[in-house]
This record gives sequence, C-alpha cells and structure tokens, in this order.
Amino acid sequence: MQPADGPRGPLVTGDPALPAAPAVERAAEVPPPETAHEEVLVLDFGGQYSQLIARRIRELGVYAELLPHDLDLETIRERAPKALVLSGGPASVYSQDAPQLRRELLDLGIPVLGICYGMQAMVLELGGRVEGAEAGEFGRTALTMAGDGGTLLAGLPPEQQCWMSHRDCVFEGPEGFRALAASPGSPVAALEDTERRLYGIQFHPEVVHTPYGQEILERFLRQIAGATERWTPASVIEEQVERIRAQVGDAGVLCGLSGGVDSATAAALVHRAVGEQLTCVLVDHGLMRKNEAEQVVAAMRELGVNLVHVDAEERFLARLAGVEEPERKRKIIGEEFIRVFEEEAEKVESAGFLVQGTLYSDVIESGGDGRAADTIKSHHNVGGLPEDLGFELVEPLRMLFKDEVRAVAAELGLSERVVWRQPFPGPGLGIRIVGGEVTRERLDILREADAILQEEIKAAGLYRELWQSFCVLPVVRSVGVQGDGRTYAYPIVIRAVTSQDAMTADWARLPYDLLERVSNRIINEVAGVNRVALDISSKPPATIEWE
Ligand code: XMP
Repeated sequence: MQPADGPRGPLVTGDPALPAAPAVERAAEVPPPETAHEEVLVLDFGGQYSQLIARRIRELGVYAELLPHDLDLETIRERAPKALVLSGGPASVYSQDAPQLRRELLDLGIPVLGICYGMQAMVLELGGRVEGAEAGEFGRTALTMAGDGGTLLAGLPPEQQCWMSHRDCVFEGPEGFRALAASPGSPVAALEDTERRLYGIQFHPEVVHTPYGQEILERFLRQIAGATERWTPASVIEEQVERIRAQVGDAGVLCGLSGGVDSATAAALVHRAVGEQLTCVLVDHGLMRKNEAEQVVAAMRELGVNLVHVDAEERFLARLAGVEEPERKRKIIGEEFIRVFEEEAEKVESAGFLVQGTLYSDVIESGGDGRAADTIKSHHNVGGLPEDLGFELVEPLRMLFKDEVRAVAAELGLSERVVWRQPFPGPGLGIRIVGGEVTRERLDILREADAILQEEIKAAGLYRELWQSFCVLPVVRSVGVQGDGRTYAYPIVIRAVTSQDAMTADWARLPYDLLERVSNRIINEVAGVNRVALDISSKPPATIEWE
C-alpha cells in the first residue's frame, strides 16, 4: 500500500493535535477479509493513535483491524491472528476505571506488542514495576538502547528519537523480560520476553516523530510474528470482487457518484465484479467544481461503466432561490438529491442493491456496529442517500482507510485526477457561498476562482499535501479600484488546510509567491471579484467549511 498521505509535508507546522478518539465499542459486523488469514488485531485501549497503528501495519502489507480491548477471547482464538497489538490509552494503569488487560491474552501463545498503556498494563499484569512519575514524558524524546536492542530493536542506532506521551512508566520488567532501551523519563522504555513472545514499547512507533517506528513495527510483524506481505491493492480488489459477486448474484446494482474518489472507487470495484449489472447515477446539482462532473463521467466511461448523468442544475437552483440560511440550504440540497436519484433509480430495472462508499474510519467512528451514516455528523451526510430506499447496501470500501482507497483506485485504473481528489462536501459550492442566496452568477464566480486556486496549487506541487483547498464567496461587497474606475465587488477567501481526518485541521502555510499568483489571477481573470483574503484559522475553533 502507499504510505498515508498525511501531515508529513513541509506545509505542516505543528504536530497534529488529534483529539482522544473514542474507544471502539463493538466489533465490526462484517467478517474479516480472506486476506486476514494473516491478520493483526489491534486492541484499543482508547489511545488517540490507535487507528494509526492499524494503518501503519497495513502499510506494511498486513491486514490489521482495530477492535475493542475487551473483545471476547473466543473470537480472538477463532480468528487466530498472527499477532496482537495492545494500543496506548489515556488512563493511568492505577486509575479505578482503567481498561483491564486480561491475563489470558498474554497466554495465548500469539506474539503481543504492547504500546504505551498497552505495555504498562502487560508489565503490571505480569508482576513488573510500573509507577506514576511526577512529570511524565510528552513529545520528542531521546531513546538510548541498552545493549544490542534484543530481537525487537536489533540493528537500530544506539541513540534515536522517539515520541512519548505518558505519565506512568515502567521501572522494572516482569521476570523473564529483558530491558531493551531507556529514555530520560522511562527507565525501561522497551522490553521483551522472547520465550513468551511478549514485547513492549513505551513510545509510539506509529507516529512520524518516531523515525524508526515503522522499522520496529516491521520487525515485529515479520521476524517475530512471521506475517508476510499479503494485503495489497490487488488482493483487496480480488477479494472484494468475489464478495460482491456472491452478494448481488445477477441482480441489478445502483451507485450514486458524487465526483469524489470513494464513490468512484466503489463503482469501479462493483463494475469489475458485475459489469453490466451496475448502473451509476451522477446527479449534477450544478454545485460542483469546474469540470469535475465531466471528469468523473469520462473516468467511468473509460472503464465502460453504464452511467446516467443527470443535469439537474435548474431544479436545484430553483429550489435554492431566496434561501440564505445554511442548514436550510443543506436540507434542500439533500432532499432534492434524493428525489432526483429516486426518479432515476425507478428507471433501472430489477435494481435490488445500492453501492455505498462507507470507509473503515466511518465504521470505527460509529462503534463498528452499524451504518456509519447514523453517527456521522448529520450535516456531513447531506448529499448521501438514506437507507430506506429499499435497497440492500453493497459497501466494498468498508474495511479500507482513505489512503487504501486511493491505492485501490489507482490499481483499478482510475485517473490521477480522480485518485487524488481532495474531499468535497455533498452540498458542494452551495455551502461556500456564505451569508446569502446561491445564484448562478455567484456560483460561476466561485467556480472560476476555485479553478484558478486548484490549478496554481497543483502547479506548485502542493495539492496532495493539503487535506482540502478551496475558495469561499462571502456575500458582501467592498470597494476597489481597477483601471480608472471604482469597483464594488465580492471578495474571495482562500481556505487551505492540512488534516488527517477533518476532525482537526490547521491552516496551511502556503508560500507567499503562490498566494500572490492566485490573488492576481483571481482578481484579473474573474469578473465580479476585487479582493482576495486568506483564512488563517485552525479547526477548532473554526471549521473547515464556512457554513
Ligand atoms: P467542517 O466544516 O465541519 O468539515 O470542519 C469537516 C469535513 O466535512 C466536510 N463537510 C461536509 N461533507 N456534506 C458533506 O458531505 C456536508 O454538508 C459537509 N459539511 C462539511 C468538509 O468539507 C470537511 O471535509
């Protein structure tokens, strides 16, 4: 798999302040993929990086799934994973409601890697010494190897940097364990018992600030757990194709395309599986970016996908006339979208299935037990389809992270433009004309300005480093001077953010010369704009979108 596109690039100035993720509550209802005969289960003790651990393991070609820390032993035995990883967590091992580590997990004979809290819980359970420290260690920390680094850290430099985030620390390993490294605040920062196949590290190998982190994970997976590289885009495709065929038989399948990479990839996968049985519907509400609908249509036609492209701009604009209130806009766009989609769906004979581009991160965030749509912030579901349309859902991306979707998309032959497309909200440009009515004139202005921004960002090679970049049109006018005349025109606001998951975001430090080019071009080329501003707010407290 390709490495995660994340805040690794030079645009990122701070460390991603991820909020503590809610612990996963239940197991996913979907059985693990076939590739999972070599899987790693990451048991979640509530750490903010738990998801990232699973992602990093998958980047090494091994399927990993994030599951609750109290997942029943029977399931674990049945799934017979190659290894278990115990994640970090915010609790102190001594606090009353600390999530418990069950001793049986350590006696299964399966290699276990405890990270941070996971390591402390393991050490405590087996009789080692864990104590609270006054100061704790947070952030970049120097790690010093004790001896040769044992099996887990063998071959790594004797001094290296790692990322710590803990208060309790291990003073002494349990009997049979050997200490492998120390840091200023952690007398035992890594340890192992090769006999029992138990390993622990106090620092976080999954974050980029631990430069050798991925090597350590790889060592654990290959040398210790014996896991091979089987989780590849090609294997995902092969497996999903089989599953989709088994699920839909010879029934018809419908898929709504949004213009984004998720729905395009889901459609391409289903097409690979059942070809002609699939009909895609692209509801063009007139709120898309310049040329975006056309690009998706072209990409799908190139793959030979049956596609209905509905030009519904008039309908949407008519319903949006006079509406200024953001939530009403969203509601109208959402309702109209469903209406148009339903009309088209009725025309497709014997369609019993509906494709949805639900991702693994949605599944995790929803507690894993149901449809992600239930718990995604309601406004983020606008432009999606309700479940009561009477179709059975096909969700071929349900076990994939976003970066895996891109890798699968590339493998399926979707164009670069579609593969790397930044997220775009369902209600589209409709929620980027703020504080006023959505009109065709304003949409055209915004679309042109946005196209210039995208073009320049791509030309500067920064597109993939940004989570999102777009323009906003506030419905206010200000005075300007152009040539000999005064103007009274709209401003355009540039919004560009880096983020990992849209939960938090930082404004991107775009180079001045790029901003200058964008500003000049927008003001010169887009009639109706006389001012360009830059949004320098992070989320929180701002949001990514303006409405
Ligand atoms: P905010 O603005 O809440 O956005 O920081 C977080 C992410 O969600 C996207 N977003 C939406 N997506 N329908 C969508 O499909 C919506 O109504 C919507 N509003 C925000 C936003 O672009 C960002 O990626």
